[in-house]
Amino acid sequence: MTSLSSSHTVDTDALVALFAPWAGRRLAVFGAGYVGGAVARLARTAGLQVQALTRNPATASALAAAGVDVVVDDLSGAGWHARMPHAADFVLDAVGSGGGGPEGYRRSYVEGARSIVAWGAATPPPGPGHLIYTSSTSVYAQGAGARVDESSSTEPVEEGGRLTLESEGVVRTWAGPWTVLRLAGIYGPERHLLLDQLRAGVTELAGRGEHRLNLVHRDDVIRALVAAWRAPERAAGQTYTLADGQPETRAAVAAWLATRLGRALPGFAAEAVSTRRRHVPDRVVVSDRIQRELGWRPRYPSFREGYAALLEA
Ligand SMILES: NC(=O)c1ccc[n+]([C@@H]2O[C@H](COP(=O)([O-])OP(=O)(O)OC[C@H]3O[C@@H](n4cnc5c(N)ncnc54)[C@H](OP(=O)(O)O)[C@@H]3O)[C@@H](O)[C@H]2O)c1
Repeated sequence: MTSLSSSHTVDTDALVALFAPWAGRRLAVFGAGYVGGAVARLARTAGLQVQALTRNPATASALAAAGVDVVVDDLSGAGWHARMPHAADFVLDAVGSGGGGPEGYRRSYVEGARSIVAWGAATPPPGPGHLIYTSSTSVYAQGAGARVDESSSTEPVEEGGRLTLESEGVVRTWAGPWTVLRLAGIYGPERHLLLDQLRAGVTELAGRGEHRLNLVHRDDVIRALVAAWRAPERAAGQTYTLADGQPETRAAVAAWLATRLGRALPGFAAEAVSTRRRHVPDRVVVSDRIQRELGWRPRYPSFREGYAALLEA
């Protein structure tokens, strides 16, 4: 096994152990960001052969130092196809929006997925490995307190959601087994804006406090990826929603954090928020099916456990 970075924790050991049975097997990661980068490092530490594609030279250097084979390129083209070995057992598409507005979205999500599918189609027998795409609950438009799960209709009102839905369609044409995970808002180590704001003494938060936040801890996303890769006979061809299942209003989360930090309860200034963030729908994202079918259990079943761990770290 190679060593992890200084962010090594007890939980890191548990996550590495999840990948350990696959030591020596191959993982290909597209989109080496918050989720993809962590998966690449954990899997490499567990002894897998990991290839990762990134556009970002700094990310490339850091991953290479961790023992990951890195290809630096833009996913949406085909220039990287010849440089990325085809024989991956596990494939992860975790690219983000990539910036650049709707065109950037389309390039990274839709054209990126098309490029991955074309690369996979050229895999010699026995064919490509198990592709997981980290989609988003932005494919749902429901609000007004609705419960949303895999059976809910997908009629996204925003361009980002429409393009995400389109990229799901592309992923479903993958020549091997595929699974789509529709993720709620990801938080975790080094990604906790609300906590940072309150720590910094912010007393008025932009946006509204009364809509519920549907969250999932990054490490629970990684547990869901492993659960799907472990059970391809059940997970292949399936789409799952992924959230911790106990959404609370933003005001309640902020109040809990402020109390833990010994700060005054913050106010909210809805008019100070950008148009994009005004549309966060109030709803409850339900993830019963992945628990039932793949045995996934969030280690952080609500923001309280997740933020408590972050406060202790
Ligand atoms: N974050 C959330 O709350 C959330 C919620 C629901 C769903 N999701 C989905 O979950 C996935 C993982 O999220 P995340 O938070 O880990 O995202 P992230 O930190 O933004 O990482 C995404 C990565 O994709 C890379 N990327 C984007 N376009 C690319 C392209 N054309 N070619 C090569 N690389 C490209 C970015 O690289 P660069 O550094 O080069 O830009 C970045 O490293 C994403 O698919 C996201 O849509 C996220």
